[in-house]
Amino acid sequence: MKAAVLTGGGDCPGLNAVIRAVVRTIHNAGGTTVGMLEGWRGAIEGNIIELNPQETDEILPKGGTILGSSRTNPYKSTDTVAQVIETFHKLELDALIAIGGDDTLGVASKLYHDHQLPTIGCPKTIDNDLSSTDFTFGFDTCLNTVMDAVDKLRTTAESHRRIMVVECMGRHAGWITCFAGIAVAADAILVPEEECDMDELCTRLSRRKADGKNYGIVMVSEGAKLKGQTVTQGGKTDEFGHEQLGGIGKRVAEMIGKATGIETREVTLGHLQRGGSPSAYDRVLGTRLGIHAAREAIAGNFGKMVALRGLQIVAVPLAEAVGQMRTLYPEFMDEAREFLK
Ligand code: F6P
Repeated sequence: MKAAVLTGGGDCPGLNAVIRAVVRTIHNAGGTTVGMLEGWRGAIEGNIIELNPQETDEILPKGGTILGSSRTNPYKSTDTVAQVIETFHKLELDALIAIGGDDTLGVASKLYHDHQLPTIGCPKTIDNDLSSTDFTFGFDTCLNTVMDAVDKLRTTAESHRRIMVVECMGRHAGWITCFAGIAVAADAILVPEEECDMDELCTRLSRRKADGKNYGIVMVSEGAKLKGQTVTQGGKTDEFGHEQLGGIGKRVAEMIGKATGIETREVTLGHLQRGGSPSAYDRVLGTRLGIHAAREAIAGNFGKMVALRGLQIVAVPLAEAVGQMRTLYPEFMDEAREFLK
């Protein structure tokens, strides 16, 4: 068996764990693996590298992806779809394992269903918003990064009697903000799934101050909405049509400062959240997903995405897994709210 692996979309810690596991599992079954560079761009351009178990053994603790990533969308034109198919045949590949989020896996699903290309998907998103899998690797490392940052921000907030508004990633889903918010004992958690009630928030922060708590931490997702609107970076979009978000933290901080009279500052954690060495949990999850993605390929079980369900890694139809966002389950905000009164 000759397999190819690629990583598409935003990077996250744990991608190299998946790559390493794919290479090792295919090798153990007598096959070889190549890596396509920079996501679907590498598949279009035929830009590949050979991957072997010895070299990829070293990459487990490394953040990011040794293959590089991009948000290239082959379906932007029929020519580029044809180029992907040509690359596949030219390299005499038997399988293509795509590690990515909804966009990358959406392409893998279409290539399988429309062109019978033998693809397997492996779920990846820092936002943890892919349906059909309980958790995505990288999310745990991200939470620890946010927690470390906010623990540090807390001491300066306390010294200066300020409110710190911390903007987190999470385009459509509040998983990072809610989980990190619980982990750092935030005073407020604003997520895309709920309209921000700024009047309630400012009243609560003022009351807390009157009760003796003279500083505060407000966590906000980049995709949270003010009066039904997300805050964007001036209409910039990627090849899949997603608008670049950002700036809500600043707006929220201004509103709080104005309404409460409490000095308020804003910090956007941005891409820091996607960086760094993967946590033990993410290394193990990435490794398990990589092993199972390779095993599905070896078994010829294509058009599937490997997924974590409880403690098991299962294979679900790719078409079922893509195209539907998994927003934050309401029970998590309900639990968080016990501390947000
Ligand atoms: O989809 C993952 C994500 O990190 C989002 O949380 C964020 O909005 C976006 O990617 C940022 O993308 P880029 O790396 O292209 O700026």
